[in-house]
Amino acid sequence: MTYDLIIVGGGPAGYHAADLAGKAKLKTLLIEKNKIGGVCLNEGCIPSKTLLYSAKLYDNARHSNKYGVTAENVVFDHKTVLKRKDKVIKILATGIKKRLKNNDVEILAGSGQILAKKPAGFAIQVNDTSYLGKKLLLAPGSEPVIPPIPGLKEGLENSFVVTNREILNIPAIPSSLAIIGGGVIGLEMASYFNSVGSKVTIIEMLDHIGGNIDLDIANLLQQDYQKKGITFLLNSRVMQINNNSITIAGPKGQDTIEAENVLLSVGRKAATAALGVENIGLNTERDFIITNELGQTNIPDVYAAGDINGKSMLAHTAYKEAEICISTILGKESVMNYQAIPAVIYTNPEVAGCGETETSAQEKGLEYKTISLSMRYSGRYIAENEGGNGICKLLIDKKNKRLLGAHLLGNYASEIIFGPALMIEKNMIIEDIQNLVFPHPTVSEIIKEGALEL
Ligand code: NAI
Repeated sequence: MTYDLIIVGGGPAGYHAADLAGKAKLKTLLIEKNKIGGVCLNEGCIPSKTLLYSAKLYDNARHSNKYGVTAENVVFDHKTVLKRKDKVIKILATGIKKRLKNNDVEILAGSGQILAKKPAGFAIQVNDTSYLGKKLLLAPGSEPVIPPIPGLKEGLENSFVVTNREILNIPAIPSSLAIIGGGVIGLEMASYFNSVGSKVTIIEMLDHIGGNIDLDIANLLQQDYQKKGITFLLNSRVMQINNNSITIAGPKGQDTIEAENVLLSVGRKAATAALGVENIGLNTERDFIITNELGQTNIPDVYAAGDINGKSMLAHTAYKEAEICISTILGKESVMNYQAIPAVIYTNPEVAGCGETETSAQEKGLEYKTISLSMRYSGRYIAENEGGNGICKLLIDKKNKRLLGAHLLGNYASEIIFGPALMIEKNMIIEDIQNLVFPHPTVSEIIKEGALEL
């Protein structure tokens, strides 16, 4: 059977590309070895946000005395939370499959392997059958990095150590949880388990949490979570994992931490194993498939999108890259701009950012001015965040007054950040932002307040 397009991987990049290709009347085959929706829907973004929402309700119910609301006997039912999480996934998965069906996309369950480039197209093997695609889009995603720490393999085997996949189905709340890696997954899971009663310790090898986020925001978030009882061990490395403890080496020497469970969240790697990239000579770097700004690889008619290119491991980047690939296939002019991609950490308070940070601006030698405002400039923020210490930072290009970056700590940040992303994408200068009308009272007004400070 020959297809116009074969897509390997049914996560955000793959299913969105399939949807668009089907809509454009390309005969499309989507191959998925696990579940449609990929990591994002089944073991990432969506389930974690469902859990975090329940934790937020629980926090609010217990800590709202200062707002004049007192609730007694507040109970957190982890089993019900997990059941609801599964229901949410099911609703969304059903919707995606329905859309693909409506667009005549064929879905094939199995693991796709590239066999060869033939005159009629690319031969892809799935479950002992070979399929031909005139064009190929690779979107197999990523998987957790498993570093060579002594005892880690055994810990994973006996479920003392879990990854992002298992933690979302953990049957009971552990009394204590050690988290290796204070990045996005580590912080979101720390937020959940701290809210629902685990004693959480984060072990991070860098001197700050949150990876590439703004450093002031990383410090404020850390202070906030320290007050809530989380222990942060920065500049620390895990040396050994034992039966119910881990040995770390930090600034004060070696130490042993006991924990009921350990979450491993030290980053993700390309899922290229067994994909057969070598069979057609695809160029890779650290196993990530190299693509240009049109989504093309070094082999004509082969495209790649999503985590597999290693550029920005976010579901919304994957959607956009899928759109770019399909546009290129359809002969439309459209290129990827990585500058205006917002990033969010769904802690409570939320972190969101877009564009340059002070660190990245300095590395590039950009001349910028920083405007840093307390979120308390926003009436809505004060009304809803008793004692909150959120901030908004804007980076402005000194020469042309363009907005270079925006970074927020405070709730609704996840919903606000698309505004600054749009402003950066459209090269807006600060006067443009000053002239916009924001709804009042909203937390989003902080962006205009910031712009008016210049
Ligand atoms: P990450 O790259 O965000 O964070 C990993 C952290 O682990 C880093 O801070 C790193 O310094 C640290 N680390 C690495 N090796 C270590 C070691 N041996 N000991 C101690 N610390 C170590 O990776 P993470 O959290 O695993 O997330 C994976 C991907 O999933 C990311 O690319 C992220 O963007 C994406 N994601 C996005 C979410 C969102 O958009 N809200 C939510 C969850 C994941």
